[in-house]
Amino acid sequence: IAQSNTFKIGLILPMTGQQASTGRQIEAAAKLYMAQNGDTVAGKKVELIVKDDTSVPDVTKRLAQELIVNNKVNVLAGFGITPSALATAPLATQSKTPLVVMAAATSSITEASPYVVRTSFTLPQASVALGDWAPKNGIKKVVTLVSDYGPGIDAEKYFKERFIFNGGQVPESLRVPLRGPDFAPFLQKVRDLKPDALFVFVPSGAGAAVMKQFLERGMDKAGIKLIGTGDLTDDDQLNDMGDGALGVVTSHHYSAAHPSPLNQKFVDAFKKANPGLRPNFMAVGGYDGMRVIYEALKTSKGQGGGDGLLAAMKGQIFESPRGPMFIDAQTRDVVQNIYLRKVEKKDGQLYNIEFDVIKDVKDPGKAK
Ligand code: DHB
Repeated sequence: IAQSNTFKIGLILPMTGQQASTGRQIEAAAKLYMAQNGDTVAGKKVELIVKDDTSVPDVTKRLAQELIVNNKVNVLAGFGITPSALATAPLATQSKTPLVVMAAATSSITEASPYVVRTSFTLPQASVALGDWAPKNGIKKVVTLVSDYGPGIDAEKYFKERFIFNGGQVPESLRVPLRGPDFAPFLQKVRDLKPDALFVFVPSGAGAAVMKQFLERGMDKAGIKLIGTGDLTDDDQLNDMGDGALGVVTSHHYSAAHPSPLNQKFVDAFKKANPGLRPNFMAVGGYDGMRVIYEALKTSKGQGGGDGLLAAMKGQIFESPRGPMFIDAQTRDVVQNIYLRKVEKKDGQLYNIEFDVIKDVKDPGKAK
């Protein structure tokens, strides 16, 4: 097939290492999208090229360079963690290649290049809802515990600001390293401070370790509630966390238990194609990212190169398995519902059950 008749998507993901579950989820979702929608769009054969960056930003950048120069990809996609997205953004600008962020969620990523489009979420978007919910539900004093990098710092800042605005107190804000964190000494400190609740942000894949140590230390029995963004009760791990996770309240944009017919279809198809795996919020970011790419190719008919494609990504509005979403044309960031959820048992399995919704939330981190 001639070069001009192929459309190449360079999907860069952490397939190994600490963030491997993100890569596994997104790759599975992208392949599901292609299986459901075919691999011919606007007369072009769509080719997905998957690369493992091991979540090391220098590797992400080198792989992106190779994909642009050697493979001549039309789009870059994936990006499991914020440092990988930020390291690559300048290459998107130089080469005028749209860069679809399917995972990373620090607010500022979309400002790093006019070619960045995001289908995941932002931590400010997810955190503010909990800063409103907590004080209305008997939680007046909170200690925050976040991974010490972009998304954690966003989560800490936006949760805290809103919670304090609503009359809450935050006596201590703790930050743990992203790589190989040991939560024990931090949790001991939280126990001593005895807040009403501990607010946590850790990236996808790290939640189970926090939950385990929280329960092992009997913090729940000491009367400390666990709350956080939905990264903590990640659907990829939640069902193995045990009944100690019951009742944990989080705010996020996606739950595998989201009660819509479209989500039910998505979850069933995903599980069928990937036995033993439940789709999480990373999967939905990958699935919707493919949708944004496919529709942009259809609309632009492959004309106008990267700029034509980018223009056709801006303003897309559609129903996702997460609920309604759109790509804000000005910021290129996702606008979506944020749900409050509680871990409950359904059909013998643990799920994040939605009990409230804040509709059409824009990223609060964007300058006006
Ligand atoms: C990021 C990574 C995650 O795994 C997550 O759940 C949220 C944010 C990030 O690096 O941006």
